Amino acid sequence: MDHFHYRRGMLHAEGVSLATLGTEVGTPTYVYAEATLRRHWEVVSHAFAGRPTLVCYSVKANSNLALLSRFAEWGAGFDVVSGGELARVERAGGQPRRTVFAGVGKTKRELQQALGSGVLLFNVESAEELELLDQVARAAGVRAPFAIRVNPDVDARTHRSISTGLKTSKFGVPLAEARALYQRSRQLRGLLAKGVDCHIGSQLTRVGPLAQAVRRVAALYRQLAAEGHPLGLLDVGGGLGIRYRSEAPPGPEAWAKVLRAATADIAATLVVEPGRVLVGNAGVLLTRVLYRKPGHARRFVVVDAGMNDLLRPALYGAEHEVVSVRQRRGRRVLLDVVGPVCESTDTLAAGRHLVLPLQGELLAIRTAGAYGMSMASNYNGRPRPAEVLVSGRRWQVVRTRETLRDLWRGESTGR
Ligand code: LLP
Repeated sequence: MDHFHYRRGMLHAEGVSLATLGTEVGTPTYVYAEATLRRHWEVVSHAFAGRPTLVCYSVKANSNLALLSRFAEWGAGFDVVSGGELARVERAGGQPRRTVFAGVGKTKRELQQALGSGVLLFNVESAEELELLDQVARAAGVRAPFAIRVNPDVDARTHRSISTGLKTSKFGVPLAEARALYQRSRQLRGLLAKGVDCHIGSQLTRVGPLAQAVRRVAALYRQLAAEGHPLGLLDVGGGLGIRYRSEAPPGPEAWAKVLRAATADIAATLVVEPGRVLVGNAGVLLTRVLYRKPGHARRFVVVDAGMNDLLRPALYGAEHEVVSVRQRRGRRVLLDVVGPVCESTDTLAAGRHLVLPLQGELLAIRTAGAYGMSMASNYNGRPRPAEVLVSGRRWQVVRTRETLRDLWRGESTGR
């Protein structure tokens, strides 16, 4: 359920017409429906009812302060991968002690920052990071709570670029090495082994590989607990897929069931790190048609949003549904929806059958709430889009559109 639907022939986000937003805020603009965020939050958190679980929203999916502050208010923890994301969580009122810090390349400064904030858990990805964390913690006179991120060597069977649990992936450490690192940590007084961690990939559309991975890390957890490591947290990552076009991913219930089953005998708090499933279909990217042109072989619809605003199609060949804001009937034609960026990969939707939009017409690129704005850039000298949060019949701009001056903030001519 996503709360984007047609009313009187016009696409609405909850009670607000996207045509109104197009006029008042301009385009391109990301529009989020709070009711969808709320609903997904509830479905995901209820799926773990009765099992001690901390649901840590994965900030990388969408880090807008308005979204973070809502998740914080609803009781979420957070999964961050940089000092920047941690600072955002704190700015939005989220609690560091409900926040896990992941990432293969945390800098010393970031480790210091996160220790100072008092994060719940460092998910450590290498022996050298573990040594540095120990040093930083000792210098600060504290003990750093950590988990080793295990690379369980399973194929998540998702898109190659977003698979992280394979032997060839840069993420995590092999199981055998993980055991050795926990042993080593006993000699390091700046460390406290608090958990075990894994994450095998994103946009997972089947639960089999996840079950396999979690069984492996659960076995490690049991061994370590038996050896007397204090532990208490079993972090199984995020990754649950969503429907963009024709995918049929398992729902949060089925996902939770697998995680619960694989960890049923373990007296630990389960940590899960969902991103996409919470925010993905809570957002659309609103864009306006600039030009239509027949092209040599296929018809192009040039819109004012580009790959700098929504990178997923260019980077992964991701497919997002594109619809007209004003409901259209009529003959459908084959066309490509393309952006203004000077790259052939700046195709937002290829080979679609749509009623040919009019010049100036508004289109909505759906399921753009996750990894949309958070991956946006200024490439081609393009200010990043505005973001709007709709709640019922109310709406507010939760990030203003960048201005031209923003484009060179911090730069100088060097003269
Ligand atoms: N935990 C860890 C350690 C992760 O690396 C990720 C995502 C998540 C949790 C959240 O995964 P989710 O529940 O959102 O699938 N930009 C790509 C997705 C990259 C995902 C990176 N890691 C995309 O647009 O599809």
